[in-house]
Amino acid sequence: MKKQIIDFKVIGNKRVNATHFILTLQSELPLPTMLPGQFVEVKVEGSPTTFLRRPISIHDVDYKSNKLLLLIQEKGDGTRKLADLKPGDNLNIVLPLGNSFTQASEGESVLLVGGGCGVAPLLFLARELHAKGVKVTTLMGARSQDMIMEPENYSQFGELLITTEDGSVGKKGFVIHHPIWWDTKPSFDRIYTCGPDPMMKAISKLADKYQINCEVSLEQTMACGVGACLCCIVDTQRGHLCTCTDGPVFDYKELKNWID
Ligand SMILES: Cc1cc2nc3c(=O)[nH]c(=O)nc-3n(C[C@H](O)[C@H](O)[C@H](O)COP(=O)(O)OP(=O)(O)OC[C@H]3O[C@@H](n4cnc5c(N)ncnc54)[C@H](O)[C@@H]3O)c2cc1C
Ligand code: FES
Repeated sequence: MKKQIIDFKVIGNKRVNATHFILTLQSELPLPTMLPGQFVEVKVEGSPTTFLRRPISIHDVDYKSNKLLLLIQEKGDGTRKLADLKPGDNLNIVLPLGNSFTQASEGESVLLVGGGCGVAPLLFLARELHAKGVKVTTLMGARSQDMIMEPENYSQFGELLITTEDGSVGKKGFVIHHPIWWDTKPSFDRIYTCGPDPMMKAISKLADKYQINCEVSLEQTMACGVGACLCCIVDTQRGHLCTCTDGPVFDYKELKNWID
């Protein structure tokens, strides 16, 4: 899939909670085809510490109006600068990058599991799967109610289940404590997950126990994003691979030392 460098105009910057915001970007040119699970590299102007582009998942796409949405957590200098963007500002982006989640087939039932900002790539995925006639269930986990981001967007495409650590909404506990796992065998053909490594490892263990296909989206620190700097190497059954070009999505069984 050919990469493009596009100058987007910021048309919206919506605060979702104390640490997360959604940028709505519009291009004058038609957007290239993108696949759920792929990411973009965003150029952050204006400081020596933000020289390298920052990798951000494709949160949602509207091809008709050439709009791209990014859900971003403020972490350091780069994401703090992105949080300050105003409508009318420009943002230079390389896209689409990386591989994608394997496309499920019509009639299959899939579970999407997102923890914290890991829900970012799951909205675009839910939209595309739903359009293909796949039954989608999304399980979101967060610390508390205010960290559950835009649940109504995900529930458009199927059942939405929620867990919070403090029990302020949904079931209390982590995503692995949700009652769906109490069944003798949860009735999903596939699981796709994105979030902190400990969460994705725990979900992979459950997938392993119930013999369900499971793909994880890794958040390695990245510099170039195009396979040149080798800073995002991951050890797999196929050898050492770059998370930015061979991933970020991997079958959990491919990853060495992922689960015991
Ligand atoms: C494929 C991919 C998709 C991603 N999608 C999203 C997304 O949709 N939304 C979002 O908010 N973030 C996403 N991230 C993480 C995001 O790239 C980092 O949070 C961001 O680069 C931090 O930049 P910064 O300048 O704000 O912080 P820095 O000053 O560069 O770092 C601040 C802190 O964040 C840590 N950090 C830096 N880069 C990463 C990274 N790649 N992963 C995890 N921790 C990091 C640093 O170790 C440091 O502790 C994604 C990362 C990858 C690899
Ligand atoms: S980020 Fe440079 S090789 Fe992956």
